[in-house]
Amino acid sequence: MKAIEISSYGAPEVLRLAERPDPTPAAGELLIRVAASGINRPDVLQRTGNYPVPPGASDLPGLEVAGEIVSGDGAAMAAAGLAIGDHVCALVAGGGYAQLCVAPVGQCLPVPKGWTDADAATLPETFFTVWSNVFDRARLASGETLLIQGGTSGIGVTAIQLAKAFGARVIATAGSDSKCDACIALGADHAINYKTSDFVREVERLTGGKGVDVVLDMVAGSYVAREIECLAEDGRLVIIAVQGGTKAEFNAGMVLRKRLTVTGSTLRPRPITFKAAIAKSLRDKVWPVLERKTVKPVVHSTFAALEPGAAAEAHTLMESNQHIGKIVLTW
Ligand SMILES: NC(=O)c1ccc[n+]([C@@H]2O[C@H](COP(=O)([O-])OP(=O)(O)OC[C@H]3O[C@@H](n4cnc5c(N)ncnc54)[C@H](OP(=O)(O)O)[C@@H]3O)[C@@H](O)[C@H]2O)c1
Repeated sequence: MKAIEISSYGAPEVLRLAERPDPTPAAGELLIRVAASGINRPDVLQRTGNYPVPPGASDLPGLEVAGEIVSGDGAAMAAAGLAIGDHVCALVAGGGYAQLCVAPVGQCLPVPKGWTDADAATLPETFFTVWSNVFDRARLASGETLLIQGGTSGIGVTAIQLAKAFGARVIATAGSDSKCDACIALGADHAINYKTSDFVREVERLTGGKGVDVVLDMVAGSYVAREIECLAEDGRLVIIAVQGGTKAEFNAGMVLRKRLTVTGSTLRPRPITFKAAIAKSLRDKVWPVLERKTVKPVVHSTFAALEPGAAAEAHTLMESNQHIGKIVLTW
C-alpha cells in the first residue's frame, strides 16, 4: 500500500509518500480501505518529534480514517453490527495516513447517514476527545456555560456544535475577527478575539460576574490562572493541550473558595476498552444528532494524498493557523 511516513523529525517536507506492507487485522480488529484521513495537531507534534508513538502503534501518522471495511474478525464485527463492505470511521492510535488501516472494532462507528467518507474522517479524534473531556470528565450539563479556547480549531468547531446541540451556552475565543465570526456562524453565543480583548473581563461581562461552568483549554501556561478566575462556583477546568507551556501559577485560594475542579486527559494512550466505551456513548447520543445534521462537518480543505507534497502542504496549512475546522487527506 501507499502511505505517508515521517522520514525524519522536522519540517512538513519530512512527510514522504512511501510503499509499506499491507497491515493485517488481528483478533478484535478490522481492515479499512481508507477513503480519507483526518489531520490533527497531534500529527504535527508527532512529525516534529514531540509526541511519541504509544507502544504497539504504527509509526505512520494519522489518528482517524474513514472508508470501507475489507476484512477483519468476523465474530467481533458481527457483535458490533458491522460487516465487510460497510463504510465506517475509526479512531486509531496511528497508521491513518495510508491506503489501508487496521482499527479495533470497538473504535469504529458507521459513517453517519448523509455524510461522505471525507466528512466522516473528520469525526473520530475530535468527537472522542470532546465527548470524553467536556461531557464525561467536566460533566457539562444543559443550561450551563462553556468557554472554549481555540474555537475554530478542529477541536473547537466540534466543541461549539456539540455543546450547543446538548443545550449549553457557548463562549469561544479565537485569534482574529473573521475566526470569531466563524465561531458565531457555528452556533457560539459569543466569540472573543483574544488578541484584542481580555477574555477574563469579557467572560465577566457576558456572564454578569457569575463566570462559566466549564472551560475547555488547549493553551495552559499563563492561561490557567486566568481561566481559574473565569470559572463560576463549582466550575471545572479541563486541559487537553499545553500550547502555551506546561508551567502554570494560579491562585489556589480560588480553587477552595469556588470549589473548582482542574482536570485533563490525553486520548491516544488510553486502552481500547476505554475508547470503545466512548464510541458507544457517541453512537447512542451523538450519532442521531449528526444524522439530523444539527451538527455538521466543518472541512476547511482536502488534499489528494497521492499528489507529491500534498501531506506537507496540509501540515503547512495547519501550522499557519489559517484554517477553520478540519483538514483532510483523500486517497
Ligand atoms: N488531549 C487530547 O486527547 C487531545 C486530542 C486531540 C487534540 N488535542 C490538542 O488540542 C489542540 C487542538 O487540536 P486540533 O487538531 O483541533 O488543532 P488545530 O485545528 O490546529 O487548532 C489549534 C488551535 O489552537 C489555537 N490557539 C493557539 N494559541 C491560542 C491561544 N493563545 N488562545 C486561544 N487559542 C489558541 C489556534 O487558534 P487561533 O488561530 O485562533 O489562535 C488554533 O485554532 C491541539 O493542541 C492538540 O494537540 C488534544
